[in-house]
Amino acid sequence: MTKLLEVNNLSISFTQYVQGLNRHDSKVISDLSIDVNENEIVAILGSSGSGKSLLAHSLLGILPYNSNVSGEIKYKGDILDQDLKEKLRGNEICLIPQSVNFLDPLMKVSEQAIGECKDEKEYNEKKLRQREIFTKYGLDESVDNLYPFELSGGMARKVLLSTALLDDPKLLIADEPTPGLDAKSVKETIEDIKNLKEHGKGVLLITHEIDVALKTADKIAVFYSGHVIEINKVGNFKNVDNLLHPYTKALITSLPKNGFNLTEGVQPLGDVSGCPYYQNCPNRMDKCENNIPNLVNHNGVFIRCFDFEEANDES
Ligand SMILES: Nc1ncnc2c1ncn2[C@@H]1O[C@H](COP(=O)(O)OP(=O)(O)OP(=O)(O)O)[C@@H](O)[C@H]1O
Ligand SMILES: [Mg+2]
Repeated sequence: MTKLLEVNNLSISFTQYVQGLNRHDSKVISDLSIDVNENEIVAILGSSGSGKSLLAHSLLGILPYNSNVSGEIKYKGDILDQDLKEKLRGNEICLIPQSVNFLDPLMKVSEQAIGECKDEKEYNEKKLRQREIFTKYGLDESVDNLYPFELSGGMARKVLLSTALLDDPKLLIADEPTPGLDAKSVKETIEDIKNLKEHGKGVLLITHEIDVALKTADKIAVFYSGHVIEINKVGNFKNVDNLLHPYTKALITSLPKNGFNLTEGVQPLGDVSGCPYYQNCPNRMDKCENNIPNLVNHNGVFIRCFDFEEANDES
């Protein structure tokens, strides 16, 4: 399997000035490592505010100016620095953004989906594909000439989705592509994402909806308070005994109750000195309060918990 994307120990923090004078750095993503291969869909599953969109934006090179980034990102083995991000963005690497604010307010939606073309031939080809994809998502010809403010929320999401698919990316970063869509469009979206995978592409699917992750992904990285706490194969999510982290187990056990939604429960925001799950963990030990376990490989499952770090040390 060829590795497309490789993220090693990525951390993102923000510098903020409190009351105009005191500089404060708050960490939003800590020590994140994840790979995406060709022919693979990796879901990042995390609740609101856990740092998912920032991860997407760091991969595309569109983080806000007050962010500080450390760690390493590679694309096909090359360091993905800002120059390479800008070069690949919109062709090899595409984003389905979470916010409809990514649409250009002054441009007709069909024109922004088609994007810049080098000649008339390319334009005509893309125009045909644009119409095809729009039709598939139920956007009829009258939509082509609309401006973003004339669209409903659901229509705008479909335009964002079509725009990314039209570019035929090698690596797709889909940041919450389904909320606000009707059931049929959710199904179409999942099928399109799977279809990309069948054609050798890699997909990083960011979502807080467990059922979307379970239906679509090959493996799921569970995000908790800016930390990846477990990366496990999707098949293992069928049986709670195959899951290792107490948070992942709790998620799956409580599925019917929380309506497949990951928004319940309080996660610590900002800086934590120990394991981010310490306050809620049924198995916590004293050392978990002030020490963060590493993400270790336990029989092919990546897990961030001292229970498994020790088991690994002994082997
Ligand atoms: N420019 C910024 N300055 C300071 N903090 C920020 C900035 N942008 C985002 N954050 C903080 O980073 C955290 C993670 O934000 P992010 O948008 O990545 O969350 P998310 O997991 O995508 O949430 P959601 O599921 O709601 O989309 C949030 O607590 C947010 O307040
Ligand atoms: Mg987000």
